[in-house]
Amino acid sequence: SESERTDRIEAALSELGDDVVILGHNYQRREIVEHADFIGDSYQLSKEAANADAEYVIFGGVTFMAESADIITDDDQSVILPSMEASCPMAGMAEALQVDSAWAEITAAAPDEEIIPITYMNSYADLKAFCASQGGLVCTSSNAHEAFEYAFDRGDKVLFLPDKHLGENTAHRLGMEDEIAEWDPWDPAGKDADEVAESDIVLWDGYCQVHERFTADHIAEIRADHPDAKVVVHPECRREVVEAADRVGSTSTICETVENADPGETWAIGTEIHLTNHLQRWHPEVNVLPLCGDACMDCNAMRQIDPNYLTWVLEELARGREHNVIEVAPEEKELAEVALDRMLEI
Ligand code: 13P
Ligand code: SF4
Repeated sequence: SESERTDRIEAALSELGDDVVILGHNYQRREIVEHADFIGDSYQLSKEAANADAEYVIFGGVTFMAESADIITDDDQSVILPSMEASCPMAGMAEALQVDSAWAEITAAAPDEEIIPITYMNSYADLKAFCASQGGLVCTSSNAHEAFEYAFDRGDKVLFLPDKHLGENTAHRLGMEDEIAEWDPWDPAGKDADEVAESDIVLWDGYCQVHERFTADHIAEIRADHPDAKVVVHPECRREVVEAADRVGSTSTICETVENADPGETWAIGTEIHLTNHLQRWHPEVNVLPLCGDACMDCNAMRQIDPNYLTWVLEELARGREHNVIEVAPEEKELAEVALDRMLEI
């Protein structure tokens, strides 16, 4: 039962004491975040990982987040992901090998211009390392516009990977929506060298399979059913959805929106369903609605972190056995850290 499992988790944690810290992303299920020392978005959690003194950082999140935690924690700390199956499909849409060959074509299309690659946090360490090697950096959904400004201060064009929607929404925020070319790495016909040459922003054709499912019709429906509702959506949503919403922001902005709402206000939330459910539990005084009532916006990668796996990794650690340690290769670690540090400096 859940209460037996909770007892087992607590027993293991009291045995491990200060040796362990548990981080929980906002999209993790209730049975995980209830045991987390810190809950937050991917940026906040990477900062918590950097500040953690514990020997073991247990990451309730997906592989790219655990990799980033490994990069910024000390060498004597270990990052543990309760399930090795928790891999974000969007991060898998821009593999470093594939980006390497695209880079040759993209740079050949604009030989006289300096192109700066920016990768969203939702990517693997080898791609972060590649971006650093070309003068680029990492960004999150809360600082993408600042990363673009950093790049345009130093170069002529930006290649943004992997999320085309965050890229497009950021271009709009900067008034550069007419400067976009798309790069579809899977479609030879989608690679248009002339377009790349003429545009300041090249967007890799990746997307989040959860946020891409929201549509402007969902917003129209919520406004028809709840005329007093305001809508906040994540910038991984399509442009038409962001345009129809009242507010756009990272998962921490979505949390702050509900935290700062007056009692009785209605907010419809356009993001992964577990965060919407947490906000309903945490703020019963606010009327929190899922933007898309009956379709389940459930991230199957985040869902791989099953509370039984959390129990297993903790009990095994208490017995002196480490499992599911996420370790970035040393040669990638150094460069990927440069890309993360450039983000932290902006
Ligand atoms: P943030 O936590 O940075 O808002 O990212 C959302 C997301 O999709 C994480 O997987
Ligand atoms: Fe990846 Fe989207 Fe899931 Fe985040 S919500 S882990 S971006 S698939």
